[in-house]
Amino acid sequence: MAFATRHFVRAASSDAATAAAKKLLIKHVTVIGGGLMGAGIAQIAAASGHTVVLVDQSDEILKKSTKGIEESLKRVTKKKFADKPEAGAQFIEKTMKNLTTSTDAASVVHSTDLVIEAIVENLKVKNELFKRLDKFAPEHTIFASNTSSLAVTEMANATTRQDRFGGLHFFNPVPMMKLVEVIKTPMTSQKTFESLVDFSKAVGKSPVSCKDTPGFIVNRLLVPYMMEAVRLFERGDASKEDIDVAMKLGAGYPMGPFELLDYVGLDTSKYIIDGWHSLEPNNPLFAPSPLLNKLVQEKKLGKKTGEGFYKYK
Ligand code: NAI
Repeated sequence: MAFATRHFVRAASSDAATAAAKKLLIKHVTVIGGGLMGAGIAQIAAASGHTVVLVDQSDEILKKSTKGIEESLKRVTKKKFADKPEAGAQFIEKTMKNLTTSTDAASVVHSTDLVIEAIVENLKVKNELFKRLDKFAPEHTIFASNTSSLAVTEMANATTRQDRFGGLHFFNPVPMMKLVEVIKTPMTSQKTFESLVDFSKAVGKSPVSCKDTPGFIVNRLLVPYMMEAVRLFERGDASKEDIDVAMKLGAGYPMGPFELLDYVGLDTSKYIIDGWHSLEPNNPLFAPSPLLNKLVQEKKLGKKTGEGFYKYK
C-alpha cells in the first residue's frame, strides 16, 4: 500500500508538465444522491451546459429533487433575468432538458466523464458504491466525492482508478455558494486535478485546493466552532437564540451556529464529529455532544426535516 502510494506520487509529478495538453473536458456528468447537495450540484452542472444524470434510490426521491431544482431555477432566473422573463423561461427549459434521472447508477455511468458522489456521509456505503461503479464506468471517467469529512484516499483505494479520483467539496446551498474545495489525494494525477479545477470553473465556482486532510479547509475550522456553540448551550451558559444573535451581530457572520447546524443537517454534522472523534479521541474540539446525538436520534435533522435546533413548520 505504501509502495503503491509512492508509485502514484511519482506518476502524478511526472505527468504534471503535459497535463494541460491532456486535460479531460468534462461534458457528461453523473451525480449520485439527489438530496440537499446532489440536487444543487446537478442543477449548476445542467445550467452550465453539461448533460447530467441524477441518481437516487427511488423515483419518489428523484421527483422531489427535480421539483426542488425547478423551484431553485425559478428563483435564480427571477434575479438573473429580471427584465427578460422569456429568456429566463428558456434558460429553465434548456437546463431541465440537460437533466435526466435514474435509480440505477451502474446502467448510466457507461457514458459519463465525471461521477460526483453526494450520498450519505458513511465511508462503507460510499466505498461500496465506488467499487461497484468502477466496474461499469469507462477508463477515462473521473470519480469525485463531495464528502465533508471522510478520507477521499480511502474511497479512491476502493477502486482501481486511484489516479482518476479526487474530492469536489461543494457548499450548501450549492447554487449560491461560490466555493469548491478540490481535494488531491497522494494518488490523484495532475491531469485529474486540473480537469476537476476546470470543471469547477465551468460550473461558475471558485476552486481552492487542499490535501486530503480531515475537514479540508472550511470544515476543519467551522465544525469545531459549531460544536463549541452547542457545548456553550449545553452548559446553560447562554441560550441558542442569544448565541446566534451574538455571532451575527458581534462577529459579522451571516448565520448563527445553530442556524448553520440546522442548515447543514444535524445528521451530517454528527457523522463528521463522530468520525473525527474516532480518529482523535483525546481532542476536546472533536468531543461528541449528547444534545446533538439526542436530536439526531429523534430524527430532528434540521431544516430538511422541518425541525432541528429550531422549528421550520
Ligand atoms: P442528504 O441526506 O440530503 O442526501 C443524500 C441522498 O443520497 C438521499 O437522497 C439518499 O436517498 C441518497 N442515497 C443514499 N445512499 C444512496 C445510494 N447508495 N445510491 C444512491 N443514492 C443514495 O445529504 P446531503 O446533505 O446532500 O449530503 C450528501 C453528501 O454531501 C455527504 O457526503 C455530505 O457530507 C456532503 N456535504 C454536505 C453538505 C451539507 O451542507 N449538507 C455540504 C457539503 C458536503
